[in-house]
Amino acid sequence: MDRYAVIGNPISHSKSPAIHAAFAAQTGQSLTYEALLGPLDAFAATVAQFRAAGGRGMNVTVPFKLEAFALARRHSPRAQAAGAVNTLVFDADGIFGDNTDGAGLVRDLTHNLDCPLAARRILLLGAGGAARGVLLPLLAARPARLTLANRTVARAEALVADFAQRAGDAPLDACGFADLAGRQFDVVINATAASLADEAPPLPPGLYAPGALAYDMMYGRGDTPFLAAARADGAARLTDGLGMLVEQAAESFLLWRGVRPDTTPVLADLRRQIE
Ligand code: ATR
Repeated sequence: MDRYAVIGNPISHSKSPAIHAAFAAQTGQSLTYEALLGPLDAFAATVAQFRAAGGRGMNVTVPFKLEAFALARRHSPRAQAAGAVNTLVFDADGIFGDNTDGAGLVRDLTHNLDCPLAARRILLLGAGGAARGVLLPLLAARPARLTLANRTVARAEALVADFAQRAGDAPLDACGFADLAGRQFDVVINATAASLADEAPPLPPGLYAPGALAYDMMYGRGDTPFLAAARADGAARLTDGLGMLVEQAAESFLLWRGVRPDTTPVLADLRRQIE
């Protein structure tokens, strides 16, 4: 049977094995998908071992996405732009690296949440790996404007300058949180690590245009601090990142198996489990 795995550290709480098992059952694909704890000093060796044992591909999660990028011999354009890899494909040509995070986010927004991005004003909060990983797919969705805001302004500016070289005259700008005062957005996406510290990015009030959606890439029980703040600031719609998790998995599954699973029942099951 074809073998796949997710590698990370820690990994025991990963929902990926359950998600991929559900996709495999639904599409009639014969495969196994396991969770591998990668030793912090032996990522490449663990991948090599899995591949030698007949592994066909892997998902890669924290903290190995940059190492996975370095390991891959070939990259998709979206992995190239992200500078990080969350999906590895092992084939006769060696190791191919892709990044399905941004496509997963865009698909969750446009398909599951019925939130079109074309011609909308998007605010992306953060300038670390999570933000970088989704920038190109967000731009490809043709927003009216994509504004990147970060606590450390210089980091947002550096990221935007880098993308300006790749994406030419994309409607992209960078600023600090305080500079957002007086501006309004249709979609606000939290890609900062603030939720991990149980904090919300310090945003000025009045950011949400009528009907606007607030999206936290984190997920868990109840509102994150960012979503609670968005609710208080009048965001019309709030959502966590559970749909992105399932959609990035579906994109990986499609890449490996050539079939796109129906994510709706899988996401509904997962939602029932965490709530
Ligand atoms: P990741 O890969 O999760 O993006 P990272 O590369 O360490 O992790 O980036 C973390 C991001 O969260 C950064 O944008 C960081 O802001 P700085 O660049 O100013 O450090 C942001 N961040 C972390 N904690 C935050 C907080 N409490 N409030 C606002 N932003 C925060």
